[in-house]
Amino acid sequence: MSDVSSTKRILEALPAEALEGKRAVVRVDFNVPLADGAVADYTRIRASLPTIRWLQRAGCRVILLSHLGRPKGRVRPECSLRPVAAALEDELGVPITFIDDPPSEDARAASRHLKRGEIALVENTRFLEGEETNDPAVAEVFASLGDFYVNDAFGTAHRAHASTVGIASRLSPAVAGFLMAKELEFLGSALASPRRPFVAVIGGAKISGKIDVLEALLPQVDQILVGGAMACTFFAALGCQVGNSLVEPAKVELAGTLFGRADGKIVLPSGATIARELRPDAQTRQVSRDAIPEGWAVYDLDRASAELFAGIIRSAATVVWNGPMGVFETPPFDAGTRAIAAAMAEATSRGATTIVGGGDSAAALAQAGLQDAVTHVSTGGGASLEFLKGKPLPGVAALDDA
Ligand code: 3PG
Repeated sequence: MSDVSSTKRILEALPAEALEGKRAVVRVDFNVPLADGAVADYTRIRASLPTIRWLQRAGCRVILLSHLGRPKGRVRPECSLRPVAAALEDELGVPITFIDDPPSEDARAASRHLKRGEIALVENTRFLEGEETNDPAVAEVFASLGDFYVNDAFGTAHRAHASTVGIASRLSPAVAGFLMAKELEFLGSALASPRRPFVAVIGGAKISGKIDVLEALLPQVDQILVGGAMACTFFAALGCQVGNSLVEPAKVELAGTLFGRADGKIVLPSGATIARELRPDAQTRQVSRDAIPEGWAVYDLDRASAELFAGIIRSAATVVWNGPMGVFETPPFDAGTRAIAAAMAEATSRGATTIVGGGDSAAALAQAGLQDAVTHVSTGGGASLEFLKGKPLPGVAALDDA
């Protein structure tokens, strides 16, 4: 696989005259959690600040586009980006112009009236029917707000929408922002030229969303450690009784085939932490994977498997982790995921390149206070998975070549 980070034109490569006084339409991923009408997690907002600040310093007028939630082409007040505008004002210490009706003449006028270094945030792109179908008319609306295009929304790069793809052919230049470039560089170089041993750690509830990832990674990695409830589908394929554990019956055969042809690269947990119910005070047991009793379910790795996985991670040179090892939101079933987070940090301090993708793994890492202890935490969930599958990301493909 080639490293796409080096094949696309980046913001930094633009000459000063392409920037000074120009209106930059910047697609960011401000799809952030809200609580009580305010932004509850600033990670994605802060991740795009380098691009925004750089454009301000270059004398650009900055028009930000983002979606929030899945309003499906309708105006839904709970999906408004207004709380994000307030958060941005706090972060940047400058007023933000809010453009609430992008197709209107007022919107174009507001973008034209911005002075150098000033910033506008456009209301949720998904309030417009046609954003998600990449409708040319909607792409035209977004393009009419600026002179050139910057895509910094790695988290949305796997969506071929009007604000990520259609707009890129309507504005020139169309380049990658700093966050986009950084994500592509870390994920791209990990896959294109990994230092070995190269280990993938894949977890989460469902195998169905990740089977393609496992298949794509198998030829590239030295080992894949599989945890989370998705391991139970493999246990079933090995003929183990899994009690009440979450299993996808339709995927058991495929899991068995994949395991069979993995040539020993797929490492499954040898046991599990089980309980009758998913409750913090539930009675738990540590059992081997072929001794899960009727009425009990797998909710985490057992200690032996956590130690086995941690040991493999600690001696790897490149590690990519996506998906928790258990129900980490409900302690004590967070122990396996915490052990992985700690091993990732240790591997990093020994010089390994460690990359974490996916909202849950990133949240687990943050919960353990280790978000700064790994090489790179991706802001993309679905996007990082698509990337690991080796699929081209439409939002990246649409940008100018370097
Ligand atoms: C994400 O949070 O993964 C991105 O913002 C994409 O959101 P979507 O899955 O609603 O397209």
